[in-house]
Amino acid sequence: MDSLNGKKIVLGVTGGIAAYKAVEIASRLRKAGAEVHVVMTREATEFVTELTFREITGQPVTVDMWAKVTNFNVEHIALANLADIMLIAPATANIIAKTAAGIADDMLTTTVLATKAPLILAPAMNTNMYENPVTQKNIAELKSRGVQIIEPASGHLACGVEGKGRLPDPAEIVRFVMDFAAGEQRLTGKKIIVTAAGTIEPLDPVRFLGNRSTGKMGYAIAAEAAKQGAEVLLVSGPSSLPDPAGVRTIRIQTALEMQAAVQEAYAAADAVIMSAAVADYRPKTVAKEKIKKSDDELVLHLERNPDILYGLGQHKNRQILVGFAAETCNVEEYAKKKLVKKNLDFIVANDVSASDAGFAVDNNRVQIYTRDGGCEKYPLMSKQELAGIILNKIAELMS
Ligand code: CTP
Repeated sequence: MDSLNGKKIVLGVTGGIAAYKAVEIASRLRKAGAEVHVVMTREATEFVTELTFREITGQPVTVDMWAKVTNFNVEHIALANLADIMLIAPATANIIAKTAAGIADDMLTTTVLATKAPLILAPAMNTNMYENPVTQKNIAELKSRGVQIIEPASGHLACGVEGKGRLPDPAEIVRFVMDFAAGEQRLTGKKIIVTAAGTIEPLDPVRFLGNRSTGKMGYAIAAEAAKQGAEVLLVSGPSSLPDPAGVRTIRIQTALEMQAAVQEAYAAADAVIMSAAVADYRPKTVAKEKIKKSDDELVLHLERNPDILYGLGQHKNRQILVGFAAETCNVEEYAKKKLVKKNLDFIVANDVSASDAGFAVDNNRVQIYTRDGGCEKYPLMSKQELAGIILNKIAELMS
C-alpha cells in the first residue's frame, strides 16, 4: 500500500531558486498516493509556472487570493480545512518569518494561519540568511509550536557560496513526510500522561525547596506524542517552556498536586511517562509568614512525599509505565532496582553528573533497561530524538 494513500497534502511553494525542485516533490507525493494541492506565492510563479503544478498534481493551483473563486475547494479556508498535512518547500526566510509572526497577507500565509493540520517546513535560502539570528529565532519559535523543520542541506548554493541552506533532495523531503505521516498514526486514539519539570515544595510564602529540572525532556516527549496522534496530558511543575502544541497542559507546584492530577487521569490512560523530578520530601510545616533569620542554626523538618510512580505501579492494569532514573553513580544498579520496585515496563537512566547531558541542557545520554532484562545504551542525542525512541518503544509494547 502507498504510504500516503488518500492523504491530502497542501504543498506551499515560495519564491526561491529551489522552487523548481517542488515540481519533483509534488510528483513524488502524488506517486506515493497523496492528493496534492499546490498554493504558490506570487514570487514562486517567477520561478515555476502554475501550469506545471496543475499538470503534475491534476488539481487547481492557487496563487491569488482575490482571483474569482471558480471552485469552492480552492478558497483558502477550504484548503486549510482539507489539509491532512501542510508542507512548505522551499520555505524562504520570508515565509518562515511571517509564519512565526502570524502574518496572513496572501493565499499561502492565510492558509497556514487558518489550518489545524500539522505543518512541515523545508527552509532553503542563502547561508547568511539562514544563519541570521532572526531566522534562527523564528525557526526555534516555530519548533516550539510543534512545526516540523526539515534541516537544510549543506553544499554549493545558487548564490555562489558554500554552506547550509540548500533544499534537501525531493526524495528526502517526501521520505520525511511519509515518516511523519506513519508516525502520526501510530499513537492515534492512545491516551498518554507525561509529567515534566521538578515539583517545588513551599517553606514559607516566599521560599521553596526545588531542583534543577527544567522540563525539557518531558516537554519534548509530550510534543512528540501529540504529533504521533496521541491524546496527551502534560502535568508539569514550574517551567519556563511554553505549552506544547496540541497537548493539554496542567501546571502544578507540589508533588501532592502532581499526584492528584496524574491519578485523576490514570484509569483511562494507556501509558504514563514520569520524567518529572518529584521532590521526595516536603517541609513538615509551611510557615504562614516569611521565616525571619536569627543567629541560630535553622533546622528544617521534612516529611516524605508519596512516590507517585510506585503508587501507579501498584494499581497498574493495562497501562505502560515508564520511569526515569537520574543518578550520579551506580546508574545500572539503581535504575534496575527502581524498574522492579515501581513495576515499570522500562526505565530511562542517565548519569546527571555529566556536564553535556542531563539537567537543563538540550541533550541526553541514556541507557534503557527493560522488564525482560534488556539494556540498550544510546549515544549523546537531542531530547527530541530521545523522545522519539521512548515513544517507539511504547508503540511497540502497545502493539
Ligand atoms: N518518582 C515519583 N515520585 C517520587 C519520586 C520519584 O513518581 N516521589 C518517579 C520519577 O518521576 C522517576 C522515578 O520515579 O520516573 C525515579 O525517580 P528518582 O528520583 O530517580 O528516584 P527515587 O525513587 O526518588 O529514588 P532516589 O531519589 O532515592 O534515587
